[in-house]
Amino acid sequence: MSHLALFLFTLLVLSSSCCYAIGSQNNRTVLALASRIGINYGKLGNNLPSPYQSINLIKTIKAGHVKLYDADPETLKLLSKTNLYVTIMVPNDQIISVGSDQAAADKWVATNVLPFYPQTRIRFVLVGNEVLSYSSDQDKQIWANLVPAMRKVVNSLRARGIHNIKVGTPLAMDALRSSFPPSSGAFREDLAVPVMLPLLKFLNGTNSFFFLDVYPYFPWSTDPVNNHLDYALFESNSTYTDPQTGLVYTNLLDQMLDSVIFAMTKLGYPDVRLAISETGWPNSGDIHETGANVLNAATYNRNLIKKMTANPPLGTPARRGAPIPTFLFSLFNENQKPGSGTERHWGILNPDGTPIYEIDFTGTRPVSSFGELPKPDNNVPFKGNVWCVAIDGASEAELGQALNFACGRSNETCAALAPGKECYAPVSVSWHASYAFSSYWAQFRNQSSQCYFNGLARETTTNPGNERCKFPSVTL
Ligand SMILES: *[C@@H]1O[C@H](CO)[C@@H](O)[C@H](O)[C@H]1NC(C)=O
Ligand SMILES: *[C@@H]1O[C@H](CO)[C@@H](O)[C@H](O)[C@H]1NC(C)=O
Ligand SMILES: *[C@@H]1O[C@H](CO)[C@@H](O)[C@H](O)[C@H]1NC(C)=O
Ligand SMILES: *[C@@H]1O[C@H](CO)[C@@H](O)[C@H](O)[C@H]1NC(C)=O
Ligand SMILES: *[C@@H]1O[C@H](CO)[C@@H](O)[C@H](O)[C@H]1NC(C)=O
Repeated sequence: MSHLALFLFTLLVLSSSCCYAIGSQNNRTVLALASRIGINYGKLGNNLPSPYQSINLIKTIKAGHVKLYDADPETLKLLSKTNLYVTIMVPNDQIISVGSDQAAADKWVATNVLPFYPQTRIRFVLVGNEVLSYSSDQDKQIWANLVPAMRKVVNSLRARGIHNIKVGTPLAMDALRSSFPPSSGAFREDLAVPVMLPLLKFLNGTNSFFFLDVYPYFPWSTDPVNNHLDYALFESNSTYTDPQTGLVYTNLLDQMLDSVIFAMTKLGYPDVRLAISETGWPNSGDIHETGANVLNAATYNRNLIKKMTANPPLGTPARRGAPIPTFLFSLFNENQKPGSGTERHWGILNPDGTPIYEIDFTGTRPVSSFGELPKPDNNVPFKGNVWCVAIDGASEAELGQALNFACGRSNETCAALAPGKECYAPVSVSWHASYAFSSYWAQFRNQSSQCYFNGLARETTTNPGNERCKFPSVTL
């Protein structure tokens, strides 16, 4: 997942005279799939429970579906002992081969589906993960093979008499060039004709879903002063009316979902069903990541589940009553996800399996009945100086490597660490690394460097320097 797919709140507004889609898709199969909330089971941590224990935890929280980022045979075998519906993924690096060769698709299905199905209740095969969010030459080759790979996987499944598994691909909001107001929703020009048209044709023709990774946290947090937190958390009493359509919105998620519906409608596919492959809210993050806290995460996810399990389904303003299968992100806090602090804090469970906050996946428990959570102090942006220092307990060898990396990009970064210079003493790897991390971060943050250094660094508001040695800082 790259939540880096920020989409701007106020993008160009297309002049559109377009209609809006009112889909009434109360198909019983969809209802059954949508009535149980799913959970994303990511494994990018070095401290996570075994698949066996993790699956027990998924049962304990009463999720109805589990979505994997692979097709791990051990996990799939264990899942055969459960009633969970299962979603598996063709990894990005296999899309070109699967897309260009039916035999490769057949082999993928033979290896990753047939040994487990139907005992393991596989319902979705997702081809790739947010592949349109990357755009190197190699990635563009993946784009070109995306829909062919999806078609070939369907061919393989059908040839084996399997009609119950839908094929899709999860996309992030950055597939859109405009999303606000919702009626202005439109796909990026570089994608619309070459990728989105064939994709929509495929999804419509196979009665599958447009899988969307959608995070109100990101547009909200780009401007937490002017955007309303309660609107992002489904707790607002105020509404937003789309000036083009007159549709009335009560929360940010509905706006984002409808922008995709309008984008599909503009390409001639108003009826493709939506599913949410990822959504959630971070329970913690770096100092500059406003609003990442346990109370907001609990509020967002509890209200989301309530909304998505409502019976009859609520849908969105553009598609009232439509059920929307939804997967929450994520089961665990995953400590090996790179990037800023929020990336490692999307979980509802700690790595030891204890809950970070109470949550009820069935949506039956009143939100007001959960115990009180601590009031957060980071719902407004932090103002002040922040430093980036080495974590306690890191190995000296690893810190040394990170130190070399930090000092190697520009001679300026570590000039003060040279023998005889003001920051040379005390001569310890931890001191030198902390100086180098702070200096590097201050110098290159505007080129999107993070205070991360392979997990060896953390942000602090406590000035680590002294009279003699002044550490460079980032001023927020
Ligand atoms: C409902 O949808 C499923 C799968 O999307 C399809 O196979 C089935 O024919 C539909 N049923 C009805 C009654 O429309
Ligand atoms: C989408 O699928 C529906 C149902 O099969 C069909 O009636 C419709 O014509 C399709 N839309 C397009 C644009 O092909
Ligand atoms: C919304 O309205 C309810 C009931 O009138 C009130 O208790 C609550 O504080 C309001 N919420 C906000 C965010 O204004
Ligand atoms: C650092 O300084 C050395 C010696 O002056 C010079 O050769 C080198 O190119 C500089 N490196 C960078 C990254 O500026
Ligand atoms: C980034 O910040 C550094 C240090 O403040 C400054 O020297 C540099 O010019 C900036 N670079 C860009 C691309 O803004």
